[in-house]
Amino acid sequence: MAELAPSVLSADFARLGEEIRAVEQAGVTMLHLDVMDGHFVPNLTIGPPVIRSIRRATRLKLDTHLMIEDADSHLEAFADAGADMISVHVEACRHLHRTVKAIHALGKQAGVVLNPATPISALSEILPEADYVLLMSVNPGFGGQTFIPATVAKVAALKEMIARAGLKTRIEVDGGVTKANAAALVSAGADILVAGSAVFDGGNASEQSAALLGLIR
Ligand code: DX5
Ligand code: ZN
Repeated sequence: MAELAPSVLSADFARLGEEIRAVEQAGVTMLHLDVMDGHFVPNLTIGPPVIRSIRRATRLKLDTHLMIEDADSHLEAFADAGADMISVHVEACRHLHRTVKAIHALGKQAGVVLNPATPISALSEILPEADYVLLMSVNPGFGGQTFIPATVAKVAALKEMIARAGLKTRIEVDGGVTKANAAALVSAGADILVAGSAVFDGGNASEQSAALLGLIR
């Protein structure tokens, strides 16, 4: 069954505990945490201290999306803070295989992220090592951007690549996910959908995540 990962980037950080309880009530199983460093992407967000507080506030799986340079130096801090899943960008990691191994050595699930312009062929060597692949469906850096429609075909092609390799790698899609594209993404083969603004903008995070869950399950 596909999972919904609400991205707290669009939540009200002053009311984060309440926002998390709202999506828990709707039955979500995980939260998506966007970490940005102002270098790899042109924005700054949260780091380990906030993740540690979120860890204390919920038992949901914490899916940590690192949009940072030099992820290697920070993996331990994110693992210690309570991340369950840690994903890193192929465009930001010089020694991606080493980084994925380091995430596993910390006992966490490892994800590999592709920007919209990065072809899935970039995964050919690393695919057997990754627990999941995150396909960006916007250019990373900001919530509330418009979904890039070509992502649907990219999901289908990746699904085929995974099947051909006899693997069980999960596919996550992040950026511009709404009620208008959620079902098509799951039909194409997505296992996890991230949604930030579609869940938290407009006030009713519980209803909005329940509506998305209804479409993808
Ligand atoms: C963008 C982030 C996304 C973002 C999604 O760089 O990786 O996780 O929060 O937000 P929406 O769903 O509003 O596009
Ligand atoms: Zn993200």
